[in-house]
Amino acid sequence: MQEQKRVGILGSGSAVPERVLTNFDLEKMVDTNDEWIVTRTGIRERRIAGDGESTSDYVTKACQRALEAAGVQADQVDMIMVATVTPDMMFPSTGSIVQDRLGASKAAAFDLSAACSGFLYGLSLANGLVQSGQAKYVLVAAGDLLSRITDYEDRSTCVLFGDGAGAVLVGEVEEGRGFLSFDLGSDGSGGKYLHMPAGGSKIPASQESVAQRQHFLRMEGQETFKFAVKAMAGSTEKVLAKAGLDREDIDLLVPHQANIRIIEAARKRFGLDEDKVVVTIHKYGNTSASSIPIALDEAIREGRAKAGDLAVMVGFGGGLTWGAAAVRL
Ligand code: ACO
Repeated sequence: MQEQKRVGILGSGSAVPERVLTNFDLEKMVDTNDEWIVTRTGIRERRIAGDGESTSDYVTKACQRALEAAGVQADQVDMIMVATVTPDMMFPSTGSIVQDRLGASKAAAFDLSAACSGFLYGLSLANGLVQSGQAKYVLVAAGDLLSRITDYEDRSTCVLFGDGAGAVLVGEVEEGRGFLSFDLGSDGSGGKYLHMPAGGSKIPASQESVAQRQHFLRMEGQETFKFAVKAMAGSTEKVLAKAGLDREDIDLLVPHQANIRIIEAARKRFGLDEDKVVVTIHKYGNTSASSIPIALDEAIREGRAKAGDLAVMVGFGGGLTWGAAAVRL
């Protein structure tokens, strides 16, 4: 019988805009205050892309950094997937734009739409591609400029979101490392809780759709919150069980950064000390699909995530969707 390949993360990278939007800046824009935002969400500031910039600018940088960390050239990459709900445009895909900008001449490329869970969907696909021998190197990137679809007149959403991108290079790794298990899921009946109504085939852009502010993200916060707490716990339990591991085996939890209270609920449920949970929400807010790879990249670069550590990444988002991955780094 052919031996299974060990597939894992060869390098990571991330990129966020320079411009900082603080809670105090938001106080001047909508009826909110720093204290409400910090206690309800844990967010103190977020990064916002400049005029004229687009998702591919940040995804390209994150991919370049991941390739550099892995010591692999762009023209060796077989596949690029970009998880995003804010592509540069409807088409061509941001994946193809990034492929060109990287000079990844032999890579296939596409975008993946699973909102904040997109990075985890991408990791699972990349694992399958390498495992089956269809690809040697796969760039799994996630990037969103949520500021582009945020209604800065709606205080219930505009305080939450920020911009950024993260990426990892997936390929074969040595013994003792690599992906152990995945869990992915979707419950489309909850799509109404988190969506952007217009701009697709159902409600194409029109003067009316713009006037009705239908090109902005809309969210039912409390419904999303309840779903998130359940999804984080359930998906983490599933990947641990699939890998034959216990909660005590977790060295690092890298959760989607949507709300510190959601992260804390997961931390307590799994009995983890604070130093085992990566938190970036205070400085970046919710950056959608890129929040997990940004948090992972920072943990690796700061030396918090070390080779051989068991990391569990877990997230949830629009769709509704959720996902988790257990990996020996
Ligand atoms: N500043 C001040 N007051 C506010 C603000 C604000 N920015 N926003 C809402 N409020 C008010 C509300 O109007 C409400 O006032 P009322 O009681 O007079 O009606 C009060 O604060 C409480 O509002 P709730 O919505 O009940 O507040 P809650 O504690 O649920 O927190 C929040 C809201 C932060 C949005 C929370 O529900 C949440 O985090 N939900 C999950 C969101 C999430 O995970 N989204 C990510 C999904 S995936 C993706 O990333 C795209």
